[in-house]
Order: sequence, then C-alpha cells, then structure tokens
Amino acid sequence: MPVLDLSIDTLLTTTRTVRKRLDLARPVEPQVIRECLELALQAPTASYSQDWHFIVVTDPQQRQALATIYRKGAARYVELMTPVYQQPMASNEQEASTLARVIDSGRYLIEHLHEVPVHVIPCIQGRTENMPTIAQAARWGSIMPAAWSFMLAARSRGLGSSLTSFHLFFEQEAAEVLGIPYEEVMQAALIPVAYTLGTDFKPAARKPLESVLHWDRW
Ligand SMILES: Cc1cc2nc3c(=O)[nH]c(=O)nc-3n(C[C@H](O)[C@H](O)[C@H](O)COP(=O)(O)O)c2cc1C
Repeated sequence: MPVLDLSIDTLLTTTRTVRKRLDLARPVEPQVIRECLELALQAPTASYSQDWHFIVVTDPQQRQALATIYRKGAARYVELMTPVYQQPMASNEQEASTLARVIDSGRYLIEHLHEVPVHVIPCIQGRTENMPTIAQAARWGSIMPAAWSFMLAARSRGLGSSLTSFHLFFEQEAAEVLGIPYEEVMQAALIPVAYTLGTDFKPAARKPLESVLHWDRW
C-alpha cells in the first residue's frame, strides 16, 4: 500500500536520487520490497520469457562486500574522469552548485553504502558485449524500465533510492559475491534503498524542453 499521498505527476517529478537523506537506522520490511518488485514486473520487456532477475541484498556481510567493490569502482571512475573534471564543466553558477552537491552526495554514498539496509541489483539474462545495437537496446530496455518502476513504487511508499553503476567496473567480482552466473547474466545497476528522512522532494533543474526537443526531424 502506498503511504504517501502523491499525484502521479508529483511522483514522476520528485522520485530523485536520494543519498544523504536515507535513514540508515530504520529497517525496511521485506514485504514492502516485494510489493515494489511486484509492480516492477509490470514494466515492458522485449522478451516474452521475461529474462529479468532481481537480487535483494540485506545480509550485512554481503552489503559490506558490495560496498567495497562499489568503492573500488568509484575510485576507478574518479581516475578516469579526473581529466574531464579539470575542465570547467558547469556553464553557470546554478550548474556549478548542482555539480558540487552531486559530488558531495556521491561521496556520502561511497562512505555509507554498506549501512544502507537494502541493495537491489536488477539483472538481465544475456550479456551485451559485442552485440549489435538492436540486441543491446533489447537487453538494457528489458531491465531499466523495471528498475525505474521499482524506484517509483519505492518512493510512493516513503523509500528513497538511487540508480548506481560504479560497482559494474568490477561486475565479475560482484557476481562472485552474489553467486550470479556472470557469463549468462548481466547486472544492470545497484540500487541502495532505505526509508527517507522526510518525504518532501523537489523536481530537479533540467534544460528547457525546447533545447532537447526535435519534432518531425533533428
Ligand atoms: C545510469 C546511471 C548510473 C548512475 N551511477 C551512479 C553511481 O554509480 N553512483 C552515484 O552516486 N550516482 C549514480 N547515478 C546518479 C547520477 O550521478 C546523478 O546524481 C543523478 O542522476 C541525478 O539525480 P537527480 O536528477 O535526482 O538529481 C547514476 C545515474 C544513472 C542514470
């Protein structure tokens, strides 16, 4: 049962990346995760055989192991991105302050991931390495809508989450921790989930629609 009284448009605009406002002390009932996943299973899938899988991790040692891999992935990301970050990235003050907040919040999650009570890892059968675009689109497109539905359902129940990918730098190591058959099953993300501290979230600043909209042709 949803606990927050949100309109559909409010749900769609206020389901944000939550890191610093995750309540790390409050347990999350397995039942609420199951409800959100039941809803996620209604997302579109390219395959009638529904090739998705969802690993829910609550065991503290498993979360610790994933957090260690995530941290290593984050360090790799920073290493790769350092030359990019050395260029001025923000074009105005608002962008600069958003970027600074995302970096600060990202750092918080790196430090606290093991404390987040639930990690959800959406997976899809079939690896996309060396596949043609159509096949890649079908694989990724058969898991990301479900992941997003899960995050929306979570928000409607007072839970916060974030879509993360750093651990995928070392996906095979995470597969070993979780017992995933790496050659056949691809992890798409790691979604930390917890109740939020307060439930009021605001829409994000985005580029104006006109700057990204192409009607009839590019
Ligand atoms: C595909 C994808 C991968 C992401 N990977 C990470 C990640 O590994 N770690 C992280 O802290 N945030 C990650 N993010 C979140 C972004 O860095 C960014 O903070 C977020 O999209 C902004 O959310 P907001 O629009 O709710 O403010 C990812 C987002 C997406 C869509």
